[in-house]
Amino acid sequence: MLAVQRVLQSGRFILGEEVKAFEAEFASFLGGGHVVGVASGTDAIELLLRAMEIGAGNGVIVPVLAPSAVAAAVRRAGACVVLCDVEETLTLCPQALRQVLEKQCGIKAVLAVHLYGHPCEWKALEEVCEAQGVLLIEDASQAHEARFEQKAIGTLGRASVWSFYPTKNLGALGDAGAVWTSEAGLAEKLRCLREYGWRQRHVSELPGINSRLDEMQAAMLRVKLPSLPAQVAKRRELASCYLSRLRGVRLPLVREGCEHAFHQFVIRSEHRDALQAHLKLRGVLSAVLYPAALHQQPAFACAERFPVAEKAVREVLSLPLHPYLSEAAIDAVCAAVEDFPA
Ligand SMILES: Cc1ncc(COP(=O)(O)O)c(C=O)c1O
Repeated sequence: MLAVQRVLQSGRFILGEEVKAFEAEFASFLGGGHVVGVASGTDAIELLLRAMEIGAGNGVIVPVLAPSAVAAAVRRAGACVVLCDVEETLTLCPQALRQVLEKQCGIKAVLAVHLYGHPCEWKALEEVCEAQGVLLIEDASQAHEARFEQKAIGTLGRASVWSFYPTKNLGALGDAGAVWTSEAGLAEKLRCLREYGWRQRHVSELPGINSRLDEMQAAMLRVKLPSLPAQVAKRRELASCYLSRLRGVRLPLVREGCEHAFHQFVIRSEHRDALQAHLKLRGVLSAVLYPAALHQQPAFACAERFPVAEKAVREVLSLPLHPYLSEAAIDAVCAAVEDFPA
């Protein structure tokens, strides 16, 4: 409430002190670099690609198992979406990536999504991208507080994109997003692009758009940021309860050297739909993220096959997980899963 009052009393609702302070605080939380607040995670992708001069005539590789927002943002930047299969942790597969890059010309960047909060196999992806001279960008929207070999997710490369959609590990009270970058020049260009291409008021130097993080959302994010580590620690604690107590389903993999942020706790079952219906009858609400891979959606349809992702979308099921869940509730979910007759 105090934060809301502060914003109301300031009389400034767009790009003011709260946004400036959140950008500085989030950058410092990530261990340095520059943060540019924008209106959403989708805009963060579009603006970062535009700031890196990736657009018409260029291809951007996107994992075929990802929210459609990722592919939509690539299209909005004017670039062509090139799909690539995932591996068993359901993040981008380095071998499949190598094959796509060897086969296809004109690829400028790869968007590595740390899906469900599990870090991508960064080093292997980096090796493949470096060999082909292609940029590797992190989409950290589902992985606030995850780590790869002790390094904060979002700071592994030159730049990363973030969504603060309300359900994320760090969520605003509406739409919000950001770009992190290690480069001051890139940050400066992003600031320009997010507001009509202005460096100086009323002088559009670049063909920018309107994608500003508003003061109210920034103030909310500032209130929530300090508790993010404790909240993710709680998610991990509850995830380990699931991992030790669940029977009869495939559990999420956590690769060595990775600290999972458990944005989602995703199990797999060949009888997923029946299991979900059974859980519902037992009062357990679960969710399917995502029911279709990108090539199975009309806007991004293509004839190519992506066997790992195609199998995953038939099997994945997110079980309840949030920092306020009790261990008793976890036990009840585990009991309901164990009772499933399949
Ligand atoms: C991995 C990923 N990238 C991008 C987005 C798009 O973010 P937003 O909904 O804030 O535009 C999301 C949000 O759902 C996401 O999970």
